[in-house]
Amino acid sequence: MRQPLVMGNWKLNGTKASVEALIKGLAPAAAAHPSVQVAVCPPVIFLGQVEQLAADTKIAYGAQNADVHEAGAFTGENSPVMLKEFGCTYSLVGHSERRTLHAESDDVVAAKYEAIQKVGLIPVLCIGETLEQFEAGVTNSVVETQLKAVIDRCGIASFSNAVVAYEPVWAIGTGKTATPEIAQAVHAHIRQYLAGFDADVAAKVQILYGGSVTGATAADLFGQPDIDGGLVGGASLKVDDFSQIIAGAA
Ligand code: G3H
Repeated sequence: MRQPLVMGNWKLNGTKASVEALIKGLAPAAAAHPSVQVAVCPPVIFLGQVEQLAADTKIAYGAQNADVHEAGAFTGENSPVMLKEFGCTYSLVGHSERRTLHAESDDVVAAKYEAIQKVGLIPVLCIGETLEQFEAGVTNSVVETQLKAVIDRCGIASFSNAVVAYEPVWAIGTGKTATPEIAQAVHAHIRQYLAGFDADVAAKVQILYGGSVTGATAADLFGQPDIDGGLVGGASLKVDDFSQIIAGAA
């Protein structure tokens, strides 16, 4: 019922040459697995290039962040309406690196989610617990709080046009992937929590796993009943690895 989605988050990486090589290199894997939605999130400066390169492929794309404002005196920012003009389908929101390094609170994340959705983009809401919270056994309440901030502001119906990405912070860029069992348990909890507000919306929303996903771990993770694909950092920068991850979602 839910289509798998594999999304690459390139973070602060890339050159014009590597962008071209990645999109051209990934196009065959994306085409070979029509059942899998494939997307990449480059740094915004490469969006125009990706728009051209991805035009004849089934690779969708998005931004890693967006401002809450449409326009104005907000130096260094990019608005959702600008992202839309460059053909984005998605924008990440609330990635743990934004929450930590840019002090984005749950309220800021909810406001950005709303602004992204308002222009017709699909927000990919990133949630997840730190190592300290994982060890304290409070993962479920952490993700509930992160979800509730968005539900309070935008309503549960907004999740019928959004993606959730569960990314345990302790697994991001560390090489420590959550086991499929650990990830599945949290994904099931997220879906159950959303179902408390609207069962139909919860059943349909794609919930991605992120955190050191590799070609070797993808298929087992994505084979879990509540894991609908992945948000991939490091491995999304390599054509072979990301192609294997796409295959793992098919
Ligand atoms: O957005 C992607 C995540 O932060 C995962 O990054 O695959 O390098 O651990 P990673």
